[in-house]
Amino acid sequence: MNACVRAVVRRALADGISLTGIKRGFQGLIEKDFETLDSRSVSNIIQRGGTVLKSARSMEFMSVEGRVKAYNNIADAGLDSLVVIGGDGTFKGAVQFEREHAVRVVGIPGTIDNDLSGTDFTLGFDTAVNTAVEAIDKIRDTAASHDRLFFVEVMGRHAGHIALAAGISSGAEAILMPETPTDIPALLSNLELGKSAGKTSNIVIVCEGDEAGGAFKIAEKVRSLAPQYDTRVTVLGHIQRGGSPTAFDRILGTRLGVAAVEALIDGKSGVMAGLVQGKVALTSFQDCISITHLPDTEMLRISKITNI
Ligand code: F6P
Repeated sequence: MNACVRAVVRRALADGISLTGIKRGFQGLIEKDFETLDSRSVSNIIQRGGTVLKSARSMEFMSVEGRVKAYNNIADAGLDSLVVIGGDGTFKGAVQFEREHAVRVVGIPGTIDNDLSGTDFTLGFDTAVNTAVEAIDKIRDTAASHDRLFFVEVMGRHAGHIALAAGISSGAEAILMPETPTDIPALLSNLELGKSAGKTSNIVIVCEGDEAGGAFKIAEKVRSLAPQYDTRVTVLGHIQRGGSPTAFDRILGTRLGVAAVEALIDGKSGVMAGLVQGKVALTSFQDCISITHLPDTEMLRISKITNI
């Protein structure tokens, strides 16, 4: 996100456009938590995780009154356009705001879950996957040395993109995610298949949003059906949301930040700048939130072949 904020600021300044940073997202709009940004305000942030502008979930912005307050602050500060960075909730709010008020809004996809349409990758996803893989590699050492079965839970409230990418990258024996039905007896027969092929340890990646429950619940079911496995659970949690971003995420943030400002300069509004098949593309907010970004079918297929 910081790489993206930096790019938005620097691209706008290149055309002599002045900028205001809104702290804590929509809540900051309502509370008029604004700060003027210049080129130096965004120095030395490209390598930092989180966001220097801070982030918050705003219940108030969900109401018409909240959005009126936000608009009055914008008008008062003489702002005419907004760049919003976020996920599903951010774009739902942006759609309403843009419909109700005279302000142009362009979005940038920022969520580790990668669950927005209109882009192949959201900001933070690649960093989160790399963080998860680094941790899973370490867990693998214990799994292998002690002949254990590990259930590792990764983030993804409703979507299994992190689970799938981290699972393939770490050579996981199974990946459980909400987009595919979780069948515990089938999982156990696969593990037995691996055992007969000489495997002595296993890593099962569980997406937190899996319909069969999180890693603890699934491990419990497995323990009761197959007590012969020495089972352990690790929940990776918020370590996946922090840390220095990967080069991929920094480049993505920079490209999309520049694209968002250029879209506004071109008079666009109600669209999100994303990366579609390697190229920057604009997609309407409505399409980004109403079309489900499903995991890649090729990735799903290969994940089931390379795990035995
Ligand atoms: O939406 C991104 C996400 O990281 C999800 O994967 C996760 O469920 C959630 O946010 C965690 O949110 P919070 O930090 O509010 O607990």
